[in-house]
Amino acid sequence: MIYSNIFDTHAHYSDEKFDEDRDELLSSLPSLGVINVINCGCSLKSCKESIELSEKYDYFYCALGIHPSDITEDSYRELEQIKELYSYKKCVAIGEIGLEYHYDFIPKEIQLDIFEKQLILSKELDLPVIVHDREAHEDTMNLLKKYQPKGVVHCFSGSVEMAREVLKLGMYIGLGGAVTFKNARRPLEVAEMLPTDRLLLETDCPYMTPVPFRGKRNTSDLIIYTAEKLAEVKKTDTQELINNANNNARELFNI
Ligand code: NI
Repeated sequence: MIYSNIFDTHAHYSDEKFDEDRDELLSSLPSLGVINVINCGCSLKSCKESIELSEKYDYFYCALGIHPSDITEDSYRELEQIKELYSYKKCVAIGEIGLEYHYDFIPKEIQLDIFEKQLILSKELDLPVIVHDREAHEDTMNLLKKYQPKGVVHCFSGSVEMAREVLKLGMYIGLGGAVTFKNARRPLEVAEMLPTDRLLLETDCPYMTPVPFRGKRNTSDLIIYTAEKLAEVKKTDTQELINNANNNARELFNI
């Protein structure tokens, strides 16, 4: 089945897993129905690369920020330099930012501080945030409630109850390949209750590859397997679900 209107709201095409064929791949995505991609920066280096990709490909936009797993002793200095980049015309969000408690090699206090600084910035700049929350639901919700930014909790892994709180804040929920995994009970429960006007589709490529390609490199065109699964759960047509998610992304990121 061929679909159109695909908006991948979360990709990492500066990842080295694309080094061998990046240009060839990115030139081919529009012919596979992909109309927009938001490439997320995670460090000063990948933020600059996200801007380069957005310059090169019309259909690309970028989000700029420091990912909790990419925090180093340089991050405070990098934050200052990234601040200078938000005026870039195709920068549509602050991301990827948040908390990573599964891999806990970065102290929580520093993660919380860097996340909070970027939430404050999102209010100053009036930009939406793209939030990473892995095994950090309570701390994530506390900060989101405190600052009430516009934005999305990406690769949502919380409960239905947490999803309700996120929706109450006016935020969106991003769902990707994880909904196709065998053990995907929670994200499917969330998908079921999620109003169609709050869902964003995403890949998080090269990671989170949907079934039947799990284990291989992810790319934006594979989002259709996620969309098909979600359409099945929500008892709707896949193209209609893709169209709705596309409209939601345009609304949130002001594209
Ligand atoms: Ni990501």
